[in-house]
Amino acid sequence: MSQLEESPTGTAEYDISPLLEPLKIRGLQLRNRFVMPGMQRYWCADGAPDLRLREYYRRRVRGGASLVISESCAVDHPSATKNPTFARISPDTRDAWRACVEGVHEAGGAMFLQLWHQGAVNYGGDAESNPDFVALSPSGVSHPGESFGRAATEAELDSIKAAFVRGALDAEEIGADGVELHSAHGFLLDQFLWPGTNLRTDRYGGPSIADRATFVAEVAAAVRAATGPDFVMSVRISQWKESDYDARIVEQPDELGQLIAGLRSAGADIFHVSTRRFWTPEWDGSDRGLAGWAKSFTDAAVIAVGSVGLDVDVMASLNGEEGQPTGGTRIGELVRRFRRGDFDLVSVGRSQIGDPEWIAKMTDHRPADIRAFRAGDPWLSHDVVST
Ligand SMILES: Cc1cc2nc3c(=O)[nH]c(=O)nc-3n(C[C@H](O)[C@H](O)[C@H](O)COP(=O)(O)O)c2cc1C
Repeated sequence: MSQLEESPTGTAEYDISPLLEPLKIRGLQLRNRFVMPGMQRYWCADGAPDLRLREYYRRRVRGGASLVISESCAVDHPSATKNPTFARISPDTRDAWRACVEGVHEAGGAMFLQLWHQGAVNYGGDAESNPDFVALSPSGVSHPGESFGRAATEAELDSIKAAFVRGALDAEEIGADGVELHSAHGFLLDQFLWPGTNLRTDRYGGPSIADRATFVAEVAAAVRAATGPDFVMSVRISQWKESDYDARIVEQPDELGQLIAGLRSAGADIFHVSTRRFWTPEWDGSDRGLAGWAKSFTDAAVIAVGSVGLDVDVMASLNGEEGQPTGGTRIGELVRRFRRGDFDLVSVGRSQIGDPEWIAKMTDHRPADIRAFRAGDPWLSHDVVST
């Protein structure tokens, strides 16, 4: 018996049908539980997505994704990023994003823009290519012991908060169904949450996660207050950082509970809980991953993510390590956790880069036809533009 065919109980292990149920969040009706998470492709020209990116999103919707979250989109603030190949939402890029959103809607999906600020992450080359660029962050620390830029003043934080609100209003105006605040992976909002990068002694810092979450909660509350009742807001969080896989914003479950409760009160409708492998237990004594723990503290929707359909994690892939599709085994585990109530939605990242029809092929029980993700895919995609 192949593991791709049947489990010992006789149930098809690759049966994803429980994940094909619709879900309603505020005014948004999702046709199934599959999400395409934000994935930076470097296909933007001065912050604006091109035709290729629009088609790339549309193909994933035609292939089964119910919700597309844009790659991280810099908010319109001079400190957000200086790299023009990164996406940006601002008056001059709005129409290009509108075309993406319309394309996704036309294909039958929903779309969020992911609002992002790089904070103290040093992409190198910044000083040479833009001498005026000043990286602002909680404490001018990119990683414990490493400095980059400087700590933002409270007035600067107010202007960054206003840029997030403008980004959300722009997203709403172009017809997006919602936004996701990127508060994960070591970027600005996450730098407040992590004690390693937040050394502030004002109201934005402190020993407790509730203290360190103050700025993120203020941004979330300001976005919620400015946008309409049907507009959905997701907040993405992670323990891991691109610069540190062992980093932790919270050490204990009750701290996670405080973080989730605070952001839920600030208006978060969805928590997109980013882990590198969805099945890794977060704390001893339970097999629950971070998403399952987050769900245990909230009535908001939770998105799980991490190596669905693959046996190699995202950072290994980005460093060029090849993986193999894992087929049915982990899919059975994913569905088991979903049925148990650990999460409401699941993001499938690299597997959908590898094959835009990953969801459709899984739905049709054709895992053997899936084009495997390859480590080179993110940068030199096989995607072609077809209009
Ligand atoms: C090429 C690439 C670019 C990414 N860019 C972003 C991004 O812009 N914003 C974000 O929140 N996560 C980003 N991620 C992380 C993904 O959203 C996702 O969490 C990660 O790939 C794990 O999911 P997977 O194992 O299904 O690929 C990126 C991942 C990849 C592979």
